[in-house]
Amino acid sequence: MTAPEFQRRKGGDTLVVVTAYDALFTRLIEEAGIETILVGDSLGVVVQGHRDTLSVTMEDMVYHTRLVARARQRALLIADMPFMSYQVSREQALHNAGRLVQAGAHAVKIEGGGAMTDRVQAVTAMGIPVMGHLGMTPQFVHQFGGYKVQGKEAAQADALCADARALEQGGAFALVLEAIPAAVAHAVTQAVSIPTIGIGAGPHCDGQVLVLHDLLGLFDEFVPKFVKPYAHLKADALQALRRFKEEVECRKFPGEGESY
Ligand code: KIV
Repeated sequence: MTAPEFQRRKGGDTLVVVTAYDALFTRLIEEAGIETILVGDSLGVVVQGHRDTLSVTMEDMVYHTRLVARARQRALLIADMPFMSYQVSREQALHNAGRLVQAGAHAVKIEGGGAMTDRVQAVTAMGIPVMGHLGMTPQFVHQFGGYKVQGKEAAQADALCADARALEQGGAFALVLEAIPAAVAHAVTQAVSIPTIGIGAGPHCDGQVLVLHDLLGLFDEFVPKFVKPYAHLKADALQALRRFKEEVECRKFPGEGESY
């Protein structure tokens, strides 16, 4: 998968995106046939244990992008630009987008509406495809007063459509739509000629993305309504760890089979 191929899929086969933060899961994701991987700044929550994504740094993103890039073979690799890596100036956005590409990303993702159009334009002009991110953008959590569904009011929905058009005009190759009503996501999807990728945005988007740890049932501290766990790996891991503890304590492990 490449960014131009991804963009051409608008209206075609539904796009599937999943997050990854390390080499092991990158291999599993590719083995499952998934063609697009996002190194999300959600790693701040599911890997680093923070309450939000705001403390994720460029160094963190570069490190995890390298781990994913090392294992990646065919998938399109998109990396998130973390909080305060693009907001200050276009020059800052250019410099940091370049660092993510040097770490192995093929494209970057930037949160925010029409106000980010000049960043999208500048980074795209440098040859780096940019994915936009609208709706309940986690880096704006304090402005929203928490992780709340956005775009419920008619004026907000209109603003989302206008933002989507502005980012498309700026050169974005795709847009993530997060936690907005399905009808609004449908309207945004029809308003632009680039693919929309939903997360909590209903079934009418051109594709869907989920955070890996959510879809595997590994992370249950905060499970939004839009998450569907396709496995329960936390329960499996807990069971394995408890059995290991028990067997070591009662000297059942290691047995003859595990001894030299
Ligand atoms: O950081 C992330 O994982 C994301 C997805 C939820 C879209 O931005």
